[in-house]
Amino acid sequence: MIKKLSSYIKEYKKASILTPFFVILEVIMEVIIPLLMSKIIDIGIPNSDIHYILKIGILLTVSAIMSLAFGVLSGRFAAKASSGFAKNLRKAMFYKIQDYSFENIDKFSTSSLITRLTTDVTNVQMAFMMIIRILVRGPVMLIASLIMAFSINAKLSCVFLVSIPVLGIALFYIAIKAHPNFEKVFKKYDNLNRVVQENVGGIRVVKAYANEKHEEDKFKKVNNEVYTYFKKAEKIIAFNSPIMQFVVYFSVLTISLLGAKYIVGGTLQTGELSSLISYAWQILMSLMMLSMVFVMVVMAQSSAERIIEVLDEVPAIKNKKNAIKEIKDGSISFENVSFAYSDEKDPNKYALKDINLEIKSGETIGIIGGTGSSKSSLVQLIPRLYDVSIGTVKVGGINVKDYDLKSLRDNVSMVLQKNVLFSGTIAENLRWGNENADDEELEEVCKLAQADSFIQEFPEKYDTYIEQGGTNVSGGQRQRLCIARALLKKPKILILDDSTSAVDTKTDSYIRKAFREKIPNTTKIIIAQRVSSVEDADRIVVLDEGKISGIGTSEELLKTNEIYRDVYNTQMKGGDNNENKAE
Ligand SMILES: Nc1ncnc2c1ncn2[C@@H]1O[C@H](COP(=O)(O)OP(=O)(O)OP(=O)(O)O)[C@@H](O)[C@H]1O
Ligand SMILES: [Mg+2]
Repeated sequence: MIKKLSSYIKEYKKASILTPFFVILEVIMEVIIPLLMSKIIDIGIPNSDIHYILKIGILLTVSAIMSLAFGVLSGRFAAKASSGFAKNLRKAMFYKIQDYSFENIDKFSTSSLITRLTTDVTNVQMAFMMIIRILVRGPVMLIASLIMAFSINAKLSCVFLVSIPVLGIALFYIAIKAHPNFEKVFKKYDNLNRVVQENVGGIRVVKAYANEKHEEDKFKKVNNEVYTYFKKAEKIIAFNSPIMQFVVYFSVLTISLLGAKYIVGGTLQTGELSSLISYAWQILMSLMMLSMVFVMVVMAQSSAERIIEVLDEVPAIKNKKNAIKEIKDGSISFENVSFAYSDEKDPNKYALKDINLEIKSGETIGIIGGTGSSKSSLVQLIPRLYDVSIGTVKVGGINVKDYDLKSLRDNVSMVLQKNVLFSGTIAENLRWGNENADDEELEEVCKLAQADSFIQEFPEKYDTYIEQGGTNVSGGQRQRLCIARALLKKPKILILDDSTSAVDTKTDSYIRKAFREKIPNTTKIIIAQRVSSVEDADRIVVLDEGKISGIGTSEELLKTNEIYRDVYNTQMKGGDNNENKAE
Protein backbone atom coordinates (compact mmCIF):
# COMPACT_ATOMS: atom_id res chain seq x y z
CA MET A 1 0.00 0.00 0.00
CA ILE A 2 2.77 2.41 0.99
CA LYS A 3 4.71 1.58 -2.18
CA LYS A 4 1.66 2.13 -4.30
CA LEU A 5 0.80 5.48 -2.73
CA SER A 6 4.38 6.72 -2.60
CA SER A 7 4.57 6.45 -6.37
CA TYR A 8 2.31 9.51 -6.46
CA ILE A 9 4.82 11.72 -4.62
CA LYS A 10 6.58 12.19 -7.95
CA GLU A 11 7.90 15.73 -8.38
CA TYR A 12 7.54 16.40 -4.65
CA LYS A 13 10.18 13.83 -3.74
CA LYS A 14 12.78 16.55 -3.11
CA ALA A 15 10.48 18.41 -0.72
CA SER A 16 9.57 15.13 0.96
CA ILE A 17 13.23 14.38 1.65
CA LEU A 18 14.18 17.94 2.62
CA THR A 19 11.43 18.06 5.25
CA PRO A 20 12.87 15.36 7.56
CA PHE A 21 16.36 16.73 6.89
CA PHE A 22 15.40 20.14 8.27
CA VAL A 23 13.39 18.52 11.04
CA ILE A 24 16.53 16.73 12.22
CA LEU A 25 18.51 19.98 12.15
CA GLU A 26 15.73 21.73 14.06
CA VAL A 27 15.69 19.03 16.73
CA ILE A 28 19.46 19.16 17.13
CA MET A 29 19.24 22.87 17.77
CA GLU A 30 16.42 22.40 20.24
CA VAL A 31 18.37 19.78 22.12
CA ILE A 32 21.46 21.97 22.34
CA ILE A 33 19.57 24.85 23.96
CA PRO A 34 19.01 23.31 27.45
CA LEU A 35 22.65 22.22 27.49
CA LEU A 36 23.82 25.78 26.84
CA MET A 37 21.41 27.04 29.50
CA SER A 38 22.92 24.73 32.08
CA LYS A 39 26.39 25.99 31.16
CA ILE A 40 25.33 29.58 31.90
CA ILE A 41 23.75 28.60 35.21
CA ASP A 42 26.51 26.27 36.37
CA ILE A 43 29.64 27.92 35.02
CA GLY A 44 28.88 31.50 33.98
CA ILE A 45 26.84 32.65 36.97
CA PRO A 46 28.85 31.10 39.87
CA ASN A 47 32.12 32.42 38.37
CA SER A 48 30.52 35.78 37.51
CA ASP A 49 32.18 35.35 34.09
CA ILE A 50 30.36 37.91 31.97
CA HIS A 51 32.52 37.13 28.98
CA TYR A 52 31.60 33.42 29.18
CA ILE A 53 27.92 34.21 29.70
CA LEU A 54 27.96 36.50 26.69
CA LYS A 55 29.70 33.90 24.53
CA ILE A 56 27.28 31.14 25.47
CA GLY A 57 24.42 33.63 25.27
CA ILE A 58 25.27 34.39 21.64
CA LEU A 59 25.54 30.67 20.89
CA LEU A 60 22.16 30.21 22.53
CA THR A 61 20.58 32.95 20.47
CA VAL A 62 22.07 31.59 17.27
CA SER A 63 20.81 28.09 18.12
CA ALA A 64 17.37 29.43 18.85
CA ILE A 65 17.25 31.40 15.60
CA MET A 66 18.54 28.47 13.61
CA SER A 67 16.05 26.14 15.24
CA LEU A 68 13.31 28.56 14.26
CA ALA A 69 14.60 28.87 10.72
CA PHE A 70 14.88 25.11 10.28
CA GLY A 71 11.39 24.78 11.73
CA VAL A 72 10.01 27.22 9.18
CA LEU A 73 11.87 25.48 6.34
CA SER A 74 10.70 22.01 7.34
CA GLY A 75 7.16 23.32 7.70
CA ARG A 76 7.26 24.86 4.24
CA PHE A 77 8.66 21.79 2.57
CA ALA A 78 6.20 19.58 4.45
CA ALA A 79 3.28 21.69 3.25
CA LYS A 80 4.58 21.60 -0.31
CA ALA A 81 5.23 17.86 -0.25
CA SER A 82 1.95 16.87 1.34
CA SER A 83 -0.33 19.14 -0.64
CA GLY A 84 1.53 18.20 -3.84
CA PHE A 85 1.12 14.55 -2.99
CA ALA A 86 -2.59 15.09 -2.42
CA LYS A 87 -2.85 16.97 -5.71
CA ASN A 88 -1.26 14.06 -7.57
CA LEU A 89 -3.54 11.57 -5.84
CA ARG A 90 -6.66 13.54 -6.71
CA LYS A 91 -5.50 13.92 -10.27
CA ALA A 92 -4.75 10.21 -10.63
CA MET A 93 -8.15 9.32 -9.18
CA PHE A 94 -10.01 11.82 -11.32
CA TYR A 95 -8.30 10.66 -14.51
CA LYS A 96 -8.95 7.07 -13.55
CA ILE A 97 -12.64 7.80 -13.03
CA GLN A 98 -12.76 9.31 -16.53
CA ASP A 99 -11.73 5.89 -17.82
CA TYR A 100 -14.44 4.13 -15.87
CA SER A 101 -17.21 2.58 -17.85
CA PHE A 102 -20.80 2.81 -16.68
CA GLU A 103 -20.31 -0.56 -15.05
CA ASN A 104 -17.43 0.72 -12.89
CA ILE A 105 -19.46 3.76 -11.90
CA ASP A 106 -22.41 1.54 -10.95
CA LYS A 107 -20.05 -0.30 -8.60
CA PHE A 108 -18.95 2.72 -6.57
CA SER A 109 -21.68 5.14 -5.75
CA THR A 110 -21.17 8.73 -6.88
CA SER A 111 -21.16 9.99 -3.31
CA SER A 112 -18.56 7.45 -2.30
CA LEU A 113 -16.34 8.53 -5.17
CA ILE A 114 -16.66 12.13 -4.04
CA THR A 115 -15.81 11.28 -0.42
CA ARG A 116 -12.81 9.30 -1.60
CA LEU A 117 -11.58 12.15 -3.76
CA THR A 118 -11.98 14.75 -1.03
CA THR A 119 -12.11 13.62 2.62
CA ASP A 120 -10.02 10.51 2.14
CA VAL A 121 -7.34 12.32 0.19
CA THR A 122 -7.21 15.03 2.87
CA ASN A 123 -6.72 12.37 5.55
CA VAL A 124 -3.88 10.79 3.65
CA GLN A 125 -2.37 14.22 3.04
CA MET A 126 -2.43 15.03 6.77
CA ALA A 127 -0.97 11.65 7.64
CA PHE A 128 1.78 12.09 5.07
CA MET A 129 2.66 15.51 6.46
CA MET A 130 2.81 14.08 9.98
CA ILE A 131 4.94 11.18 8.86
CA ILE A 132 7.60 13.32 7.20
CA ARG A 133 7.63 15.85 10.01
CA ILE A 134 6.65 14.31 13.28
CA LEU A 135 7.48 10.69 12.68
CA VAL A 136 11.05 11.86 12.17
CA ARG A 137 10.98 14.51 14.84
CA GLY A 138 9.59 12.23 17.56
CA PRO A 139 12.25 9.50 17.57
CA VAL A 140 15.13 11.91 16.84
CA MET A 141 14.05 14.14 19.69
CA LEU A 142 13.52 11.16 21.95
CA ILE A 143 16.93 9.65 21.30
CA ALA A 144 18.84 12.94 21.31
CA SER A 145 17.20 14.07 24.53
CA LEU A 146 17.82 10.70 26.15
CA ILE A 147 21.50 10.81 25.16
CA MET A 148 21.82 14.31 26.57
CA ALA A 149 19.98 13.41 29.76
CA PHE A 150 22.11 10.31 30.34
CA SER A 151 25.28 12.24 29.64
CA ILE A 152 24.33 14.78 32.32
CA ASN A 153 23.33 12.29 34.95
CA ALA A 154 22.82 8.63 34.16
CA LYS A 155 21.42 7.69 37.55
CA LEU A 156 18.70 10.32 37.51
CA SER A 157 17.84 9.57 33.89
CA CYS A 158 16.84 6.06 34.91
CA VAL A 159 13.50 7.66 35.84
CA PHE A 160 12.83 7.73 32.09
CA LEU A 161 13.34 3.99 31.86
CA VAL A 162 10.15 3.65 33.89
CA SER A 163 8.09 6.57 32.60
CA ILE A 164 8.74 6.17 28.85
CA PRO A 165 7.51 2.57 28.56
CA VAL A 166 4.48 3.35 30.76
CA LEU A 167 3.50 6.36 28.67
CA GLY A 168 4.37 4.64 25.38
CA ILE A 169 2.22 1.62 26.11
CA ALA A 170 -0.67 3.75 27.36
CA LEU A 171 -0.67 6.05 24.33
CA PHE A 172 -0.43 3.28 21.76
CA TYR A 173 -3.15 1.31 23.53
CA ILE A 174 -5.39 4.35 23.23
CA ALA A 175 -4.59 4.76 19.54
CA ILE A 176 -5.39 1.12 18.79
CA LYS A 177 -8.64 1.36 20.72
CA ALA A 178 -9.70 4.42 18.76
CA HIS A 179 -8.93 3.00 15.33
CA PRO A 180 -12.07 0.89 14.71
CA ASN A 181 -14.20 3.87 15.55
CA PHE A 182 -12.38 6.04 13.02
CA GLU A 183 -12.90 3.35 10.42
CA LYS A 184 -16.63 3.45 11.08
CA VAL A 185 -16.63 7.24 10.87
CA PHE A 186 -15.45 7.13 7.26
CA LYS A 187 -18.11 4.66 6.22
CA LYS A 188 -20.68 6.97 7.77
CA TYR A 189 -19.16 9.87 5.87
CA ASP A 190 -20.12 8.13 2.63
CA ASN A 191 -23.71 8.04 3.84
CA LEU A 192 -23.65 11.65 4.91
CA ASN A 193 -22.33 12.74 1.53
CA ARG A 194 -24.91 10.62 -0.27
CA VAL A 195 -27.78 12.18 1.65
CA VAL A 196 -26.47 15.71 1.12
CA GLN A 197 -25.76 15.09 -2.54
CA GLU A 198 -29.15 13.55 -3.20
CA ASN A 199 -30.90 16.30 -1.36
CA VAL A 200 -29.08 19.18 -3.00
CA GLY A 201 -29.29 17.53 -6.43
CA GLY A 202 -32.99 16.87 -6.03
CA ILE A 203 -33.90 19.93 -3.99
CA ARG A 204 -36.61 20.89 -6.46
CA VAL A 205 -38.28 17.50 -6.12
CA VAL A 206 -38.01 17.72 -2.34
CA LYS A 207 -39.69 21.11 -2.39
CA ALA A 208 -42.33 20.05 -4.88
CA TYR A 209 -43.30 17.19 -2.59
CA ALA A 210 -42.99 19.44 0.48
CA ASN A 211 -40.80 16.69 1.84
CA GLU A 212 -38.29 18.84 3.73
CA LYS A 213 -39.17 17.27 7.06
CA HIS A 214 -38.45 13.78 5.81
CA GLU A 215 -35.15 14.91 4.35
CA GLU A 216 -34.21 16.65 7.57
CA ASP A 217 -34.85 13.47 9.52
CA LYS A 218 -32.76 11.47 7.07
CA PHE A 219 -29.96 13.97 7.40
CA LYS A 220 -30.25 14.10 11.18
CA LYS A 221 -29.82 10.35 11.35
CA VAL A 222 -26.65 10.12 9.26
CA ASN A 223 -25.23 13.29 10.77
CA ASN A 224 -25.76 11.85 14.25
CA GLU A 225 -24.07 8.63 13.26
CA VAL A 226 -20.94 10.49 12.16
CA TYR A 227 -21.10 12.46 15.41
CA THR A 228 -21.52 9.33 17.55
CA TYR A 229 -18.55 7.48 16.13
CA PHE A 230 -16.37 10.55 16.09
CA LYS A 231 -17.31 11.22 19.69
CA LYS A 232 -16.49 7.64 20.64
CA ALA A 233 -13.10 7.82 18.94
CA GLU A 234 -12.29 11.25 20.33
CA LYS A 235 -13.43 10.24 23.81
CA ILE A 236 -10.79 7.54 23.84
CA ILE A 237 -8.19 9.90 22.38
CA ALA A 238 -9.05 12.42 25.08
CA PHE A 239 -7.30 10.20 27.63
CA ASN A 240 -4.00 10.99 25.91
CA SER A 241 -3.55 14.35 27.51
CA PRO A 242 -4.27 13.54 31.19
CA ILE A 243 -2.17 10.37 31.05
CA MET A 244 0.68 12.29 29.52
CA GLN A 245 0.46 15.09 32.05
CA PHE A 246 0.35 12.62 34.88
CA VAL A 247 3.48 10.81 33.68
CA VAL A 248 5.30 14.06 32.90
CA TYR A 249 4.60 15.60 36.30
CA PHE A 250 5.45 12.33 37.98
CA SER A 251 8.83 12.24 36.17
CA VAL A 252 9.58 15.89 36.78
CA LEU A 253 8.70 15.53 40.45
CA THR A 254 10.83 12.42 40.89
CA ILE A 255 13.75 14.04 39.07
CA SER A 256 13.40 17.19 41.18
CA LEU A 257 13.22 15.25 44.45
CA LEU A 258 16.16 13.02 43.65
CA GLY A 259 17.98 15.91 41.96
CA ALA A 260 17.66 18.04 45.09
CA LYS A 261 19.23 15.23 47.07
CA TYR A 262 22.12 14.98 44.59
CA ILE A 263 22.62 18.75 44.62
CA VAL A 264 22.84 18.71 48.41
CA GLY A 265 25.25 15.76 48.12
CA GLY A 266 27.28 17.76 45.57
CA THR A 267 26.99 15.30 42.69
CA LEU A 268 24.65 17.48 40.61
CA GLN A 269 24.51 21.14 39.73
CA THR A 270 21.42 23.33 39.60
CA GLY A 271 21.81 24.06 35.89
CA GLU A 272 22.10 20.38 35.17
CA LEU A 273 18.88 19.74 37.04
CA SER A 274 17.04 22.42 35.09
CA SER A 275 18.22 21.02 31.76
CA LEU A 276 17.30 17.49 32.89
CA ILE A 277 13.78 18.76 33.51
CA SER A 278 13.74 20.37 30.05
CA TYR A 279 14.82 17.07 28.52
CA ALA A 280 12.09 15.29 30.48
CA TRP A 281 9.56 17.55 28.82
CA GLN A 282 11.10 17.05 25.38
CA ILE A 283 11.19 13.26 25.75
CA LEU A 284 7.60 13.02 26.85
CA MET A 285 6.42 15.52 24.27
CA SER A 286 8.01 13.48 21.52
CA LEU A 287 6.17 10.41 22.75
CA MET A 288 2.95 12.36 22.74
CA MET A 289 3.62 13.46 19.18
CA LEU A 290 4.35 9.91 18.14
CA SER A 291 1.05 8.74 19.54
CA MET A 292 -0.73 11.50 17.65
CA VAL A 293 0.93 10.44 14.43
CA PHE A 294 -0.01 6.89 15.19
CA VAL A 295 -3.67 7.84 15.57
CA MET A 296 -3.52 9.85 12.36
CA VAL A 297 -1.84 7.03 10.47
CA VAL A 298 -4.33 4.40 11.55
CA MET A 299 -7.08 6.82 10.65
CA ALA A 300 -5.54 7.46 7.26
CA GLN A 301 -5.02 3.77 6.65
CA SER A 302 -8.69 3.18 5.96
CA SER A 303 -8.71 6.25 3.74
CA ALA A 304 -5.66 5.01 1.85
CA GLU A 305 -7.36 1.69 1.23
CA ARG A 306 -10.39 3.46 -0.18
CA ILE A 307 -8.20 5.56 -2.47
CA ILE A 308 -6.34 2.52 -3.75
CA GLU A 309 -9.64 0.81 -4.51
CA VAL A 310 -10.45 3.62 -6.90
CA LEU A 311 -6.99 3.59 -8.47
CA ASP A 312 -6.89 -0.18 -8.82
CA GLU A 313 -10.32 -0.54 -10.36
CA VAL A 314 -9.90 -2.00 -13.82
CA PRO A 315 -11.97 -0.08 -16.40
CA ALA A 316 -14.51 -2.58 -17.71
CA ILE A 317 -14.22 -1.16 -21.22
CA LYS A 318 -10.79 -0.52 -22.66
CA ASN A 319 -9.30 0.29 -26.01
CA LYS A 320 -7.88 -2.64 -27.91
CA LYS A 321 -4.39 -2.53 -29.34
CA ASN A 322 -4.43 -1.43 -32.99
CA ALA A 323 -8.03 -0.33 -32.55
CA ILE A 324 -9.81 0.73 -35.74
CA LYS A 325 -10.39 4.48 -36.04
CA GLU A 326 -12.30 4.60 -39.31
CA ILE A 327 -15.99 3.81 -39.25
CA LYS A 328 -17.32 2.88 -42.65
CA ASP A 329 -21.00 3.68 -42.34
CA GLY A 330 -23.88 3.89 -39.91
CA SER A 331 -25.14 0.35 -40.24
CA ILE A 332 -25.72 -1.54 -37.00
CA SER A 333 -26.25 -5.19 -36.32
CA PHE A 334 -27.10 -7.04 -33.15
CA GLU A 335 -26.20 -10.71 -33.42
CA ASN A 336 -27.64 -13.00 -30.72
CA VAL A 337 -27.10 -10.31 -28.12
CA SER A 338 -27.89 -10.89 -24.48
CA PHE A 339 -26.96 -8.45 -21.78
CA ALA A 340 -27.02 -8.40 -18.00
CA TYR A 341 -26.11 -5.64 -15.57
CA SER A 342 -23.23 -6.41 -13.17
CA ASP A 343 -22.95 -10.04 -12.07
CA GLU A 344 -26.45 -11.26 -12.82
CA LYS A 345 -26.08 -15.00 -13.50
CA ASP A 346 -29.69 -16.01 -13.95
CA PRO A 347 -30.44 -15.84 -17.71
CA ASN A 348 -34.12 -15.20 -16.95
CA LYS A 349 -33.16 -11.93 -15.32
CA TYR A 350 -31.02 -10.68 -18.20
CA ALA A 351 -31.93 -7.16 -19.27
CA LEU A 352 -31.74 -8.18 -22.95
CA LYS A 353 -32.30 -11.64 -24.36
CA ASP A 354 -31.38 -12.97 -27.80
CA ILE A 355 -31.58 -9.76 -29.74
CA ASN A 356 -31.09 -10.03 -33.49
CA LEU A 357 -31.47 -6.81 -35.39
CA GLU A 358 -30.09 -5.40 -38.64
CA ILE A 359 -30.19 -1.68 -39.21
CA LYS A 360 -29.11 -0.20 -42.53
CA SER A 361 -27.01 2.92 -42.74
CA GLY A 362 -29.25 5.99 -42.96
CA GLU A 363 -32.32 4.19 -41.68
CA THR A 364 -34.61 5.78 -39.09
CA ILE A 365 -35.56 3.29 -36.40
CA GLY A 366 -38.14 3.91 -33.73
CA ILE A 367 -38.01 1.93 -30.51
CA ILE A 368 -41.07 1.64 -28.36
CA GLY A 369 -41.92 -0.43 -25.30
CA GLY A 370 -43.08 -0.15 -21.71
CA THR A 371 -40.90 1.28 -18.95
CA GLY A 372 -38.21 -1.18 -17.97
CA SER A 373 -38.50 -3.05 -21.28
CA SER A 374 -34.75 -2.38 -21.79
CA LYS A 375 -34.92 0.25 -24.51
CA SER A 376 -32.09 2.25 -22.96
CA SER A 377 -30.11 -0.91 -22.26
CA LEU A 378 -30.33 -1.88 -25.93
CA VAL A 379 -29.00 1.36 -27.38
CA GLN A 380 -26.27 1.78 -24.75
CA LEU A 381 -24.53 -1.22 -26.26
CA ILE A 382 -23.95 0.60 -29.57
CA PRO A 383 -21.45 3.25 -28.32
CA ARG A 384 -20.16 0.66 -25.80
CA LEU A 385 -21.41 2.42 -22.71
CA TYR A 386 -21.83 -1.16 -21.57
CA ASP A 387 -20.44 -4.29 -23.20
CA VAL A 388 -22.64 -7.18 -24.27
CA SER A 389 -22.67 -10.30 -22.10
CA ILE A 390 -23.29 -12.66 -25.02
CA GLY A 391 -23.23 -12.06 -28.78
CA THR A 392 -21.89 -9.23 -30.90
CA VAL A 393 -22.85 -5.67 -31.72
CA LYS A 394 -21.44 -4.42 -35.02
CA VAL A 395 -21.25 -0.92 -36.41
CA GLY A 396 -20.28 -0.51 -40.05
CA GLY A 397 -19.87 -4.28 -40.23
CA ILE A 398 -17.20 -4.39 -37.51
CA ASN A 399 -17.50 -5.50 -33.89
CA VAL A 400 -17.76 -2.38 -31.70
CA LYS A 401 -15.07 -3.86 -29.45
CA ASP A 402 -12.54 -3.51 -32.29
CA TYR A 403 -12.98 0.24 -32.61
CA ASP A 404 -11.05 2.95 -30.88
CA LEU A 405 -13.45 4.13 -28.16
CA LYS A 406 -13.20 7.81 -28.98
CA SER A 407 -13.77 7.26 -32.70
CA LEU A 408 -16.73 5.01 -31.95
CA ARG A 409 -18.34 7.49 -29.56
CA ASP A 410 -17.68 10.41 -31.90
CA ASN A 411 -19.50 8.54 -34.63
CA VAL A 412 -22.26 7.16 -32.44
CA SER A 413 -23.72 10.22 -30.78
CA MET A 414 -26.22 9.54 -28.07
CA VAL A 415 -28.55 11.83 -26.18
CA LEU A 416 -28.92 10.02 -22.87
CA GLN A 417 -32.29 9.70 -21.24
CA LYS A 418 -30.84 11.41 -18.17
CA ASN A 419 -29.20 14.19 -20.14
CA VAL A 420 -27.36 17.01 -18.45
CA LEU A 421 -26.08 20.42 -19.33
CA PHE A 422 -23.07 21.83 -17.55
CA SER A 423 -22.69 25.25 -16.05
CA GLY A 424 -21.43 27.58 -18.77
CA THR A 425 -22.85 29.40 -21.77
CA ILE A 426 -25.05 27.70 -24.36
CA ALA A 427 -22.20 27.88 -26.87
CA GLU A 428 -19.79 26.27 -24.41
CA ASN A 429 -22.28 23.52 -23.72
CA LEU A 430 -22.82 22.84 -27.40
CA ARG A 431 -19.08 22.71 -28.04
CA TRP A 432 -18.90 19.69 -25.77
CA GLY A 433 -19.97 17.91 -28.91
CA ASN A 434 -17.13 19.39 -30.95
CA GLU A 435 -14.81 21.96 -29.44
CA ASN A 436 -13.64 23.22 -32.83
CA ALA A 437 -17.08 24.01 -34.17
CA ASP A 438 -17.54 27.59 -35.41
CA ASP A 439 -20.56 29.80 -34.76
CA GLU A 440 -22.24 28.92 -38.06
CA GLU A 441 -22.05 25.24 -37.23
CA LEU A 442 -23.59 25.88 -33.82
CA GLU A 443 -26.46 27.75 -35.43
CA GLU A 444 -26.92 25.06 -38.03
CA VAL A 445 -27.32 22.22 -35.51
CA CYS A 446 -29.55 24.34 -33.32
CA LYS A 447 -31.82 25.00 -36.28
CA LEU A 448 -31.95 21.27 -36.91
CA ALA A 449 -32.85 20.60 -33.27
CA GLN A 450 -35.41 23.46 -33.32
CA ALA A 451 -33.40 25.22 -30.62
CA ASP A 452 -32.22 28.26 -32.58
CA SER A 453 -35.54 30.09 -32.34
CA PHE A 454 -35.73 30.10 -28.55
CA ILE A 455 -31.99 30.78 -28.19
CA GLN A 456 -32.42 33.89 -30.39
CA GLU A 457 -35.10 35.10 -27.99
CA PHE A 458 -32.68 35.13 -25.05
CA PRO A 459 -31.06 38.57 -24.68
CA GLU A 460 -27.59 37.08 -24.74
CA LYS A 461 -28.43 34.44 -27.34
CA TYR A 462 -25.67 31.81 -27.57
CA ASP A 463 -23.85 33.43 -24.68
CA THR A 464 -26.75 32.85 -22.29
CA TYR A 465 -25.41 31.31 -19.13
CA ILE A 466 -26.74 27.88 -18.22
CA GLU A 467 -26.84 27.21 -14.49
CA GLN A 468 -25.52 23.98 -13.07
CA GLY A 469 -27.78 21.13 -14.20
CA GLY A 470 -29.47 23.40 -16.74
CA THR A 471 -32.06 24.59 -14.26
CA ASN A 472 -32.66 27.95 -15.94
CA VAL A 473 -34.02 26.50 -19.18
CA SER A 474 -37.22 24.51 -19.55
CA GLY A 475 -37.21 20.74 -19.84
CA GLY A 476 -38.04 20.87 -23.55
CA GLN A 477 -35.41 23.52 -24.21
CA ARG A 478 -32.82 21.46 -22.38
CA GLN A 479 -33.68 18.41 -24.46
CA ARG A 480 -33.30 20.36 -27.69
CA LEU A 481 -29.94 21.76 -26.59
CA CYS A 482 -28.80 18.22 -25.84
CA ILE A 483 -29.90 17.08 -29.29
CA ALA A 484 -28.02 19.98 -30.88
CA ARG A 485 -24.94 19.08 -28.88
CA ALA A 486 -25.12 15.50 -30.12
CA LEU A 487 -25.60 16.66 -33.71
CA LEU A 488 -22.51 18.83 -33.58
CA LYS A 489 -20.39 15.69 -33.71
CA LYS A 490 -21.76 15.04 -37.21
CA PRO A 491 -22.22 11.43 -36.20
CA LYS A 492 -22.91 8.51 -38.48
CA ILE A 493 -25.39 7.23 -35.92
CA LEU A 494 -27.61 9.43 -33.79
CA ILE A 495 -29.48 7.94 -30.84
CA LEU A 496 -32.20 9.84 -29.05
CA ASP A 497 -33.21 8.09 -25.84
CA ASP A 498 -36.57 9.57 -24.99
CA SER A 499 -35.06 12.92 -25.86
CA THR A 500 -38.15 14.74 -27.03
CA SER A 501 -40.47 13.66 -24.22
CA ALA A 502 -40.75 17.22 -22.97
CA VAL A 503 -40.99 18.79 -26.42
CA ASP A 504 -44.48 19.51 -27.79
CA THR A 505 -45.65 17.25 -30.65
CA LYS A 506 -45.46 19.96 -33.26
CA THR A 507 -41.86 20.88 -32.52
CA ASP A 508 -41.09 17.18 -32.21
CA SER A 509 -42.36 16.60 -35.74
CA TYR A 510 -40.30 19.57 -37.02
CA ILE A 511 -37.19 18.01 -35.52
CA ARG A 512 -37.89 14.71 -37.29
CA LYS A 513 -38.63 16.50 -40.55
CA ALA A 514 -35.35 18.40 -40.31
CA PHE A 515 -33.52 15.15 -39.66
CA ARG A 516 -35.11 13.57 -42.72
CA GLU A 517 -34.22 16.46 -44.96
CA LYS A 518 -30.89 17.67 -43.62
CA ILE A 519 -29.14 14.53 -42.37
CA PRO A 520 -30.60 11.75 -44.53
CA ASN A 521 -27.45 9.62 -44.40
CA THR A 522 -27.24 9.52 -40.62
CA THR A 523 -28.71 6.43 -39.01
CA LYS A 524 -31.28 7.63 -36.48
CA ILE A 525 -32.56 5.63 -33.55
CA ILE A 526 -35.42 7.25 -31.71
CA ILE A 527 -36.68 5.84 -28.44
CA ALA A 528 -40.01 7.27 -27.41
CA GLN A 529 -43.02 6.70 -25.25
CA ARG A 530 -45.20 8.57 -27.76
CA VAL A 531 -46.29 6.64 -30.83
CA SER A 532 -46.37 9.90 -32.77
CA SER A 533 -42.60 10.29 -32.28
CA VAL A 534 -41.83 7.01 -34.03
CA GLU A 535 -44.80 6.52 -36.31
CA ASP A 536 -43.07 7.88 -39.41
CA ALA A 537 -39.83 5.92 -38.84
CA ASP A 538 -38.67 3.49 -41.53
CA ARG A 539 -39.13 0.68 -39.06
CA ILE A 540 -40.24 0.42 -35.46
CA VAL A 541 -38.86 -2.09 -32.97
CA VAL A 542 -41.25 -3.10 -30.20
CA LEU A 543 -39.46 -4.24 -27.06
CA ASP A 544 -41.08 -6.26 -24.34
CA GLU A 545 -39.25 -7.43 -21.23
CA GLY A 546 -35.87 -7.37 -22.91
CA LYS A 547 -36.98 -9.19 -26.06
CA ILE A 548 -37.98 -7.98 -29.50
CA SER A 549 -41.68 -8.51 -29.84
CA GLY A 550 -42.04 -7.08 -33.33
CA ILE A 551 -40.27 -5.14 -36.08
CA GLY A 552 -41.89 -3.33 -38.97
CA THR A 553 -43.52 -0.14 -40.17
CA SER A 554 -46.33 1.34 -38.16
CA GLU A 555 -48.92 -0.13 -40.52
CA GLU A 556 -47.39 -3.59 -40.43
CA LEU A 557 -47.16 -3.57 -36.65
CA LEU A 558 -50.74 -2.41 -36.30
CA LYS A 559 -51.72 -5.60 -38.07
CA THR A 560 -49.24 -8.00 -36.47
CA ASN A 561 -48.21 -6.73 -33.05
CA GLU A 562 -50.64 -6.63 -30.20
CA ILE A 563 -48.48 -4.51 -27.89
CA TYR A 564 -48.02 -1.85 -30.57
CA ARG A 565 -51.71 -1.89 -31.41
CA ASP A 566 -52.62 -1.41 -27.75
CA VAL A 567 -50.23 1.51 -27.31
CA TYR A 568 -51.36 3.02 -30.61
CA ASN A 569 -55.01 2.78 -29.79
CA THR A 570 -54.77 4.18 -26.27
CA GLN A 571 -52.62 7.11 -27.41
CA MET A 572 -54.28 7.96 -30.70
CA LYS A 573 -57.88 7.47 -29.68
CA GLY A 574 -57.36 9.60 -26.61
CA GLY A 575 -56.30 12.39 -28.95
CA ASP A 576 -53.56 14.64 -27.76
CA ASN A 577 -54.10 14.23 -24.04
CA ASN A 578 -50.85 12.35 -23.60
CA GLU A 579 -48.81 15.28 -24.66
CA ASN A 580 -46.51 17.13 -22.38
CA LYS A 581 -46.30 20.72 -23.21
CA ALA A 582 -42.92 21.89 -22.22
CA GLU A 583 -42.97 25.53 -22.97
N1 LIG B 1 -27.37 0.63 -14.13
C1 LIG B 1 -28.19 -0.39 -13.94
N2 LIG B 1 -27.85 -1.38 -13.08
C2 LIG B 1 -28.67 -2.42 -12.89
N3 LIG B 1 -29.85 -2.58 -13.48
C3 LIG B 1 -30.27 -1.65 -14.34
C4 LIG B 1 -29.45 -0.50 -14.62
N4 LIG B 1 -30.11 0.27 -15.51
C5 LIG B 1 -31.26 -0.36 -15.78
N5 LIG B 1 -31.36 -1.51 -15.08
C6 LIG B 1 -32.46 -2.47 -15.16
O1 LIG B 1 -32.58 -2.97 -16.49
C7 LIG B 1 -33.93 -3.07 -16.90
C8 LIG B 1 -34.14 -2.28 -18.19
O2 LIG B 1 -33.93 -0.90 -17.93
P1 LIG B 1 -33.90 0.20 -19.06
O3 LIG B 1 -33.44 1.46 -18.46
O4 LIG B 1 -33.15 -0.33 -20.22
O5 LIG B 1 -35.44 0.29 -19.45
P2 LIG B 1 -36.15 1.33 -20.42
O6 LIG B 1 -36.94 0.53 -21.38
O7 LIG B 1 -35.19 2.29 -20.97
O8 LIG B 1 -37.14 2.05 -19.42
P3 LIG B 1 -37.69 3.57 -19.49
O9 LIG B 1 -38.74 3.63 -20.53
O10 LIG B 1 -38.26 3.79 -18.15
O11 LIG B 1 -36.55 4.43 -19.78
C9 LIG B 1 -34.76 -2.57 -15.74
O12 LIG B 1 -35.27 -3.69 -15.07
C10 LIG B 1 -33.79 -1.83 -14.85
O13 LIG B 1 -34.12 -2.00 -13.51
MG1 LIG C 1 -34.83 4.21 -20.75
